[in-house]
Amino acid sequence: MAEKLLAVIGGTGLTELEGLEIVEELSFESEWGKPSAPLLVGKYEGKKIIFLARHGNPHRIPPHQVNYRANIHVLRQAGVTDILAVNAVGGIHPSMGPAHVNIPDQIIDYTYGRGDTFFEGDLLEVTHIDFTYPYDRELREQVIQAARDAAVPVSTAGVYGCTQGPRLETAAEIARMERDGCDVVGMTGMPEAALAAEMKIPYASIALVVNWAAGKSDHIITMDEIYEAIRVGMGSVKSILAQFIRNY
Ligand code: HPA
Repeated sequence: MAEKLLAVIGGTGLTELEGLEIVEELSFESEWGKPSAPLLVGKYEGKKIIFLARHGNPHRIPPHQVNYRANIHVLRQAGVTDILAVNAVGGIHPSMGPAHVNIPDQIIDYTYGRGDTFFEGDLLEVTHIDFTYPYDRELREQVIQAARDAAVPVSTAGVYGCTQGPRLETAAEIARMERDGCDVVGMTGMPEAALAAEMKIPYASIALVVNWAAGKSDHIITMDEIYEAIRVGMGSVKSILAQFIRNY
């Protein structure tokens, strides 16, 4: 069997992976353009992994301008066999407040105008991938097991609603998303998950709630509140990641 190689895509609050001993930086370009940052190849918990900062380092590429196609394509070129994405989200479900960690199992995509498929242009044939279950079942189970092993409480299912951003939502938009069945709201889950599926790379997400979604608390959303929740909650995410990699 070909060797396994995990990539971690870090989002807001995870621009760098502390404890990653960087061995090599790969500055690939792909036929889909430039990725957000060089791929950092290194050792983490004694295992070789690749880290990619979704918004660049420093954090400067907004969600709607991330070149998701280039990011996924270069990870494939580098031989990545599994992708674990970290996503900051707003909490919609009453049990998912700031610093809560959710392992989503479904997606509703509200984005538009993003480069969202590899299957366009000069094609030999039209291709439609199955996307019934957008996150890889086995990889999700491994993440949930890692959370258990690390004694980090997580909710083990949830619907991730992906909005276009970069503005946050209105209260009515969140109420509609809640009626649609969304539990959390973020801006970066799509098209990343679909592109990984097109490339047949198993993909799962660790979603850290960094604020109550619009209209779900008695105050407006501030960046200070978001940074505080990241400070508190990213420790949980890092514990899950470290345990996941130890188990991998
Ligand atoms: N909405 C959309 N994306 C987000 C949010 C939010 O409330 N919080 C973090 N990412």
